[in-house]
Amino acid sequence: MDNDVLRQAPLFSALDDEAATALSNSMAETKLRRGDVLFHEGDSGDRLYVVLDGKVKLGRSAADGRENLLAVMGPGQMFGELSLFDPGPRSATVTAVTDASFASLSHEDLLRWLEGRPTVARSLLSQLASRLRKSNDVVADLVFSDVPGRVAKALLDLADRFGRSADDGVHVHHDLTQEELAQLVGASRETVNKALADFASRGWIRLEPRSVVIMDIERLGKRAR
Ligand code: CMP
Repeated sequence: MDNDVLRQAPLFSALDDEAATALSNSMAETKLRRGDVLFHEGDSGDRLYVVLDGKVKLGRSAADGRENLLAVMGPGQMFGELSLFDPGPRSATVTAVTDASFASLSHEDLLRWLEGRPTVARSLLSQLASRLRKSNDVVADLVFSDVPGRVAKALLDLADRFGRSADDGVHVHHDLTQEELAQLVGASRETVNKALADFASRGWIRLEPRSVVIMDIERLGKRAR
């Protein structure tokens, strides 16, 4: 198991090397192929996961079949804790968008681990709080921002986590289809494609299959505001 990646997860951030090794030894490794589902919204769940490699999408479906993506996560990010802290069914379906591997810990082991470790509990609370903040921003953007503004914001968020700087701009290999990008933004594929094409025609971005190169991050940032 890749300890360097694990240590980026909030669960590990407050641990010294010895404690981090002990915790990682009690975790199991799971691998998925691209397109595989780890669990479905509504399932009962008893494990928390840290992404070691690859990317996953966390999605919800409406009764009419439409889908919305809550988040895309990559190495070092953690999910599956809500059904522990607020016992109930899984709140999202987790699907691999690339081949991916995960370290997982049972909720029972996690609770035992948190006993007498308030700093670790605080890191988890801090992650929950920051997710709530982000969800509030998403709701506000759905109400106050137009689709191009939301697309610009989504690209910058993906760049933050998956971007790599090069001479011609920031290369963001997000691994999402245009349909998935639209589900992440909460708009139709046509409207999102129009916004992307407009950004590309202005020279702010270059579109590539499952990735984008951001050439003018400043202009994109202004459009996101
Ligand atoms: P759980 O409900 O156990 O399973 C689905 C997981 O998705 C959930 O725990 C959280 O870890 C994660 N999740 C749910 N909503 C969001 C969100 N808005 N942003 C990021 N992650 C989320």
